[in-house]
Amino acid sequence: MRVFVDCDPGIDDAVALAYLAARPEVEIIGVGAVFGNNSVDVTADNALRLLELYGRADVPVAVGASRPLVQPPSLAAHVHGDNGLGGVELPEPAGKPVAETAAELLVRLVRESPGEVDVLAVGPLTNLAIALGLEPELPRLVRRLVVMGGAVRVAGNVSSHAEANIRNDPEAAEAVFAAGFDLDLVALDITMKTVATTEWLEELKTVPGRRAELTSSFLDFYADFYSGIFGVRQCAMHDPLAAAVLVDPDLVTESFQTPLRVELAGSLTRGMTVADLRPLPKAQDRRPVRVVTRVEEDAFLGRMLDSLR
Ligand code: RIB
Ligand code: CA
Repeated sequence: MRVFVDCDPGIDDAVALAYLAARPEVEIIGVGAVFGNNSVDVTADNALRLLELYGRADVPVAVGASRPLVQPPSLAAHVHGDNGLGGVELPEPAGKPVAETAAELLVRLVRESPGEVDVLAVGPLTNLAIALGLEPELPRLVRRLVVMGGAVRVAGNVSSHAEANIRNDPEAAEAVFAAGFDLDLVALDITMKTVATTEWLEELKTVPGRRAELTSSFLDFYADFYSGIFGVRQCAMHDPLAAAVLVDPDLVTESFQTPLRVELAGSLTRGMTVADLRPLPKAQDRRPVRVVTRVEEDAFLGRMLDSLR
């Protein structure tokens, strides 16, 4: 399986990279960094450091968009820390980003291997929207796209109705959802129900080795934030779940199809992911996406822990 990851590391992005890196059958052919949890120079530097930590120092990292297509950027230091990794200092990266932008790297790699590359997008979708502008055939050149983002039948997180990755660039997300990808959406509907429990976090602390120890330290900061939301010590594993849906599709036990639109003009709802849930035949002016609604939670948590052993 050949995978391109577009991400804004970011603590849960880090665990998603660990999940992929631990699987010998997964070839990470490239990583695009995007603004979101932090500025793009920080997320790109974190991507280099994390790939070295997780044993994939050979993977090319490309710097992507520093801001959304239209609106000004807003970053999330309170969730992921000022350095994007909960204040945990990893060694300076030995490598450097490639000269291409993230969109250019993605387009080149999928043109070289049409129909063979899967894409995991776990940050704002700006790089994918730019890549669509470079290569309108992208949805047919990419085999499968899994997006962490959106809130379809549940509340948002950065606003009452919008989830962070989509709200961080609604125009980009609308372009991606309209483009016709074979697209699985891993939204808050499932990620806020599939959490790293207190027991899971404590078991991780018993796993020896630098990867587990440092990842556990990232998660200490992240779990502090989410414990304030959940009221108990646990945290939503948004991006690792999206990685699992890509690599282990058998974990998905329920999903539904819907055309998906992004609200761009709503004063209260900008960035909302709008499904068409009517039982009637839906307007088919865009390819539906698959919204994941149930997964094998214990199996996922077990595989996520195994990826750090
Ligand atoms: O809303 C959660 C998403 O926003 C995750 O991808 C997290 O890393 C942030 O990017
Ligand atoms: Ca992310």
